[in-house]
Amino acid sequence: MQAFTYSYPVKVYFGEGSAKQALDAELNKYGSTVMLAYGGGSVKRNGIYDEIRSLLEAAGKTVVDFSGIMPNPTYAKVQEGAALVREHGVDLILAVGGGSVIDCCKVVSAQAVLDEDIWSMEYEAGKFPTSGIPLAAVVTASGTGAEMNAGAVITYEEKLWKGPIFAVSADFSVLDPQYTKSVPPMQVLSGAFDTLSHAMETYLGNSDQDNVSDDVALAVMKNTVVNMRRLIADINDMQARSNLMWDSAMAENGILKCGRLTDFQAHQMEHQLGAYTDCNHGQGLAVIHPAYYRHILNDAPEKFARFAKEVFGKDTAEEGIDALSELIRACGLPTTMHELQSKTEITPELLRHVADTCNIIHSNPRELSREEIYTILMECM
Ligand code: NZQ
Ligand code: ZN
Repeated sequence: MQAFTYSYPVKVYFGEGSAKQALDAELNKYGSTVMLAYGGGSVKRNGIYDEIRSLLEAAGKTVVDFSGIMPNPTYAKVQEGAALVREHGVDLILAVGGGSVIDCCKVVSAQAVLDEDIWSMEYEAGKFPTSGIPLAAVVTASGTGAEMNAGAVITYEEKLWKGPIFAVSADFSVLDPQYTKSVPPMQVLSGAFDTLSHAMETYLGNSDQDNVSDDVALAVMKNTVVNMRRLIADINDMQARSNLMWDSAMAENGILKCGRLTDFQAHQMEHQLGAYTDCNHGQGLAVIHPAYYRHILNDAPEKFARFAKEVFGKDTAEEGIDALSELIRACGLPTTMHELQSKTEITPELLRHVADTCNIIHSNPRELSREEIYTILMECM
């Protein structure tokens, strides 16, 4: 194990009814103005908005709406939110949604107390925020684990860039599996695949042999796959949804990353693919992962063999990757670039841009060249 420091800033309320439990217990710690942030309207249709708003009003809060946070949230939306926070003197930001709403609000929180532009501060000056407007998250679509950490993923449209912005973690997060009931099946499964990806990407980063974090990651992967299969059989299986909600949190609360480096090269490719196409994150990962793994199979043969055996019960590393592909197909997730919903046609030229602009990871089984990344992306066509 490498040396590490671990502390955990997020208080988690998990289970049915946990939004009321959390808000009853926590709201008196904050001032009177709460920004209720959400996405394109699912929370209005499924009743979650009304439920949360009445809990806020019952606690005597003034509610400021911040609506329309889109999947793959944009930097412009972050700035809109930060301006709203300043205008109304917001005391608490309550992000109610999936990873996109939560990520946008993390950066809104940090940007609202900064005089400088947060992207320039991080990417040009190399400085990172240390504070923000208090933030809480109510998860309505699980998979990203965004509610568990301070990292956000934002699309900066003008720069044709999608990537991480370090911001603020939630003081508390609400994970009620019942709140995910109305999520469309494809999003449920792409979210679960994102969780699987996070655990795989962590596991495949460079580490010592016999690292306890590897064992924990394999357990999370195995549980994620078992429960994805349960959802393929019955998308409304609430026990499976509950397990996956906690798998998602476990994959991104930092536990799996203790004492080791991580891979996340598939994520870097997918994020830049997202910058050009606005594709769904979990679906983009489903397309890229098998091709990437076939390329690096011989660079970590023992790890892939262990993954195959423990997660899929297969005898060889190759069979493990085949089983991963079969799972993706069984979920009905896309397996080629052409199956992705994209705002623009995915062409070899577009993939060349993705390969030329995505981050290159140095702590994966083998550092890839840009040409190799382009080859991998082309194999997904
Ligand atoms: O916008 P609304 O109308 O709410 O609809 C959303 C959206 O269309 C819908 N939805 C959410 N909860 C629902 C629901 N529909 C019905 N019922 C509900 N209860 O689901 C759609 C997708 O939502 P989104 O938040 O975009 O999905 P997800 O949670 O997969 O988040 C994706 C974003 O998170 C980033 C991704 O890159 C992407 O931008 N990630 C964030 C990470 C992090 N912060 O740690 C890590 C990940 O690797 C990932 O990169
Ligand atoms: Zn992800």
